[in-house]
Amino acid sequence: MSEIGSFEEHDTVEKHVIRPPIPKALKKYWNNRYNLFSRFDEGIWLDYQSWYSVTPERVAYYIAQSIFESHQPELIIDAFSGCGGNTIQFAKFCPVISIELDPIKIAMAKHNLSVYKVPSSRVTFIQGDVLDVLRSIDFASQYRTVLFMSPPWGGPSYSGKSTYSLSDLIPYKFDVLYKAAFRITPYIAAFLPKNTDIDELAHYSTDKNRIVVTNFLYEGYSKAICCYFNMKNVLTSTALQQA
Ligand SMILES: C[S@@+](CC[C@H](N)C(=O)[O-])C[C@H]1O[C@@H](n2cnc3c(N)ncnc32)[C@H](O)[C@@H]1O
Repeated sequence: MSEIGSFEEHDTVEKHVIRPPIPKALKKYWNNRYNLFSRFDEGIWLDYQSWYSVTPERVAYYIAQSIFESHQPELIIDAFSGCGGNTIQFAKFCPVISIELDPIKIAMAKHNLSVYKVPSSRVTFIQGDVLDVLRSIDFASQYRTVLFMSPPWGGPSYSGKSTYSLSDLIPYKFDVLYKAAFRITPYIAAFLPKNTDIDELAHYSTDKNRIVVTNFLYEGYSKAICCYFNMKNVLTSTALQQA
């Protein structure tokens, strides 16, 4: 695990940026690029995997705003930063710690933050395995902290399943992630597949602490959900035309 101050090896990083001609499998994501990043043409960098992993800008903004308005965190931990889709929006509201295994994605996230004019002091990136990093964090209790996670769902094939089990998340089952997060803060938000097994989710709910689920819709169809644990007063639902 290491904290990354600057990643100067632009040549290495740029080699991984997907540019036209766009691979066939990514065409539909490319066509949606301005929904992913409204400033795409100002030089956003995404590697292959991030094209289908990044949270669309309006969704990311809505999540950030919901967390901030309901909870006024002093610190947000973005447990799977990827190329920065969520981190950029969180940083508009408060300081962020962003965790990511892949140093190339961290370098791209830093670049994308600069496109959105986010001061570099606003986000601390920690490169490493999410569990190792979460287990090493011992300062978060000093702050009003919210932990957000958007773990990999296993690629685009998740949507073919009628029900998505929380045990299918990669590389760790949701329960493992939830326990590691809960050690840091009870205020947890998770971005999960639209077909997530609601009965499994309900295990994390108590009479005192109901789970709030926001369903993100596009043209009337659910695309993804965001679940808020132990957080009251979160805005409950929205339909985003261009999410
Ligand atoms: C769904 S993507 C996150 C996308 C991000 N929220 C965004 O909007 O740009 C999940 C990320 O988790 C990272 N990841 C996978 N395994 C990890 C691990 N063990 N520890 C930390 N990050 C990991 C992947 O490299 C990937 O970038």
